[in-house]
Order: sequence, then structure tokens, then C-alpha cells
Amino acid sequence: MPDPGYPVYEVGTMFAGGESYRLPCTREGGWKPDFDAIPPDVARKAKLIWLNYPNNPTGAVADIGFFEKAVAWAKQYDVAIMHDNPYCDVAYDGYKPVSIFQVPGARDVAVEFNSWSKVYNMTGWRIGMVVGNAQMVDALMRVKSNIDSGIPQAIQRMAIEAVYGPQDCIDEHNAVYQRRRDRIVEVLRRIGLEVDLPKASLYVWAKLPAGVTSSEYAARLIEDCSVVVTPGRGYGLNGEGYIRLSVTIPDDRMEEGLKRLEAWKGL
Ligand SMILES: Cc1ncc(COP(=O)(O)O)c(C=O)c1O
Repeated sequence: MPDPGYPVYEVGTMFAGGESYRLPCTREGGWKPDFDAIPPDVARKAKLIWLNYPNNPTGAVADIGFFEKAVAWAKQYDVAIMHDNPYCDVAYDGYKPVSIFQVPGARDVAVEFNSWSKVYNMTGWRIGMVVGNAQMVDALMRVKSNIDSGIPQAIQRMAIEAVYGPQDCIDEHNAVYQRRRDRIVEVLRRIGLEVDLPKASLYVWAKLPAGVTSSEYAARLIEDCSVVVTPGRGYGLNGEGYIRLSVTIPDDRMEEGLKRLEAWKGL
């Protein structure tokens, strides 16, 4: 799993009795793992790899060339790719995120996950989907249908309406998120943090000044301004030195938080 990355990948692996190997990702590397740097003995032991672009927590995106490399690597070492893609429709400035299935032959080794949580604001309704390699989907179906006997039918019907109904809400939501993204980035830069403008996802990932840990910084923000941000360390060792902010806060609360940040005397 990529580090930093969504922590659930590690927990899922733990539950299955597996062991995670963390792939270091850096700002210079676009927050993407370098397949050539994965030790061959690790690659030979690996059963699956998690990828997630547009990315939580960094907001990084991946192009088709990255997915071509991922598919070639997975075929070489017989590893299954889990592409977690819940932000595929949450994008800005006309950018269109890539599906791994744009790579010919990806279906031999990959599945792609999506969720109604992000694009349709159905967070907490616990409904998502998986598409791709039939054998892998079948294996997942056997586990899933025996764990919880399926998602309540009313929720399934609402999810069907969401996905087959008019899709204007996608652009409408993205316009709101994009406006909030721009405001957050503007203020963070003004208070001296380094931020790359995210092309997609619901997150702004900001680099802290040297000499402060992400949890110290987040704790000080709570104490001094009653503003909550997520410390990057929670996403892995390589998330240290960063904080994550979300664009899902209503405008008035976000503006109040930004006002407090701007007035903050700092560390
Ligand atoms: C990368 C990633 N995958 C999966 C999820 C979980 O989505 P769901 O609400 O469908 O469990 C999230 C939510 O934060 C996420 O960021």
C-alpha cells in the first residue's frame, strides 16, 4: 500500500491475516509509488496492491502512463491490483480522472472500486461498487454476501436512482468544492504553508514549516483557534510534515475557520 495512504487498506490486510508493505511516496514523486523501487522479493510475495488516484489524503492524480506501469508490474509478479477510485468524478478545472481500465489488458489483473459516498453525497449509506476481473469480483462477492447479507434494498434502489438519474449534481457539487478549494489554498499560502493545487479529490494537502510535527501543529490549531485539521502522520510515515483539510465543510463554517487561521499568530 502507498504511504501516505487511506489507513483502511492496512486494517483490511490485518483482518485477513496478511502483512502490509508500505510503498514510500513523496511530493517529488507526485505521491505515487515507484514500481522499479519495489524489492523483487517483496513483489514475489505480494498478493495484492492498493492504488488510489485521485488520492486521499494528498489530492494527487495519476495519468495513464502510471496505470500502464502498474498493470505491467502486476502481470510480471502475478499481483492483483485494487484500484480504489471513489474520487473519479470529483475533479476540477475540467480535469477528467483516469480509470485503470483505460489500459488494455488491465482486466486480467485489476478491479476498481467506487462509492456513492463522495460523488452523490451518500456518505454513511454504506453503498459502493466494484468492477473488473470476474474471478476477483466473484471471490469478493462470496465474502461480502456472507458477512452482511447485502445492503438494505431501499438504499440499493436510491443508489440506482442516483446513478441512472440526471447527473447535473456532479458538476454542481464540483463547482462548490472547487470554489472552496481555491479559498482554502489561498489562505494556507498566505499563512506560509506550501500547497499544490489539487486537480481532484475532496482534499487540500499542505506542507508545514520544518521543525513541527503534524500532530503538534494540529493540536495547536485546536487549542489556539478551535480549528480541526487532520495530521498527515495518520496516513503513514511519509505523511509527517503535512496536514489535510477537506472541502466538504459548509461555506459559513469554512470561512469562519479560515478567518481564525489568518488571525492566528502561528507557532
Ligand atoms: C480512498 C478512499 N476509499 C474509500 C473510502 C470509503 O468510502 P465509503 O464511505 O464508501 O466507505 C474513502 C473515504 O474517505 C476514501 O477516501
